[in-house]
Amino acid sequence: MSSYLVTGGAGFIGSHLVDRLLRDGHRVDAVDNFDDFYAESIKRANLADASRHPRFTLFEVDVRNRVAMERLVADRRPQAVVHLAARVGVRASIERPDLYSDVNVGGTVSVLEAAVRGGADRFLLASSSSVYGDNPKVPFSEDDPVDHPISPYAATKRACELTAHVYWALHGLPVTCLRFFTAYGPRCRPDLAVAKFTRLIEAGELVPMFGDGTMKRDFTYVDDIIDGVVRAAEHCEGYHIYNLGNARPIALREMIETIAAALGRRASIDQLDMQPGDVGLTYADVSRARADLGYNPRTPFAEGVARYVAWIHRSAR
Ligand SMILES: NC(=O)c1ccc[n+]([C@@H]2O[C@H](COP(=O)([O-])OP(=O)(O)OC[C@H]3O[C@@H](n4cnc5c(N)ncnc54)[C@H](O)[C@@H]3O)[C@@H](O)[C@H]2O)c1
Repeated sequence: MSSYLVTGGAGFIGSHLVDRLLRDGHRVDAVDNFDDFYAESIKRANLADASRHPRFTLFEVDVRNRVAMERLVADRRPQAVVHLAARVGVRASIERPDLYSDVNVGGTVSVLEAAVRGGADRFLLASSSSVYGDNPKVPFSEDDPVDHPISPYAATKRACELTAHVYWALHGLPVTCLRFFTAYGPRCRPDLAVAKFTRLIEAGELVPMFGDGTMKRDFTYVDDIIDGVVRAAEHCEGYHIYNLGNARPIALREMIETIAAALGRRASIDQLDMQPGDVGLTYADVSRARADLGYNPRTPFAEGVARYVAWIHRSAR
């Protein structure tokens, strides 16, 4: 058994990781401040099973609170820290760049400090495919340039990767940065396209499609991402960056049609201009994660959407 601290543990990806780590027999502490990006009730529901588990403890703390984070890590002595807490959302970051910088960069410094002082032996950091910006080369590989982010959110995620490198270089804290590519699945964040479009198509409302429908995203089923995170935690040494994607980008129009088919409905599309900050394509080269971690995303998009829709209907979300 290992002990884990998962920041952002009440969120979409965090709560899946918490459940998986508990199933694998670990002790899991979660930190979350239930920020207002989306409803607190959704995040509480995400942790419904975990909160009944004897090896699980939730700490309602803001990761930016350095004193509280240092005390928590010193008391609980987790072996591995998985830092997922962040202000999320590319478009929203354009409205509030200061908040994104504060939570994402400031919060990461605070959690890294706590990890080093508390003697953690591994640090996993949630990064994002958005760091690649409008990368003209596909698929995106970890060695591609990431110096041209096109949203405040993307810039903060790259800054987090660089900041974490400092803690490896100065303090020898092993760090693995994981660049997630558009996760979807049960508990999906309500702002993400798969969740939003499912709601609209089910309600028979117009689906706003930004661009001509050819914009592509490398949608990755949440269980595949979690499998990558767990493998990375088991192999964390030195400083590494890995893409965790599906390596099969799906065009926006195909995505809408797949959701409509899973719901047994027709989608009515409202075509709008591309949004600032959005990139035209994300496409992960996962060969490094495959070779080093044994990462193997296995969920085809249509199957993942069918599972998501079944979950929506079960949970009446
Ligand atoms: N979902 C995706 O497709 C995706 C893609 C790339 C990267 N990521 C990254 O993965 C991580 C998890 O994303 P998610 O989709 O699960 O988002 P989420 O919003 O569901 O989860 C983030 C959690 O962090 C918490 N949080 C926010 N600010 C906090 C603070 N100051 N202190 C403590 N907790 C705080 C929130 O309350 C939330 O529960 C984030 O770092 C995100 O940037 C996600």
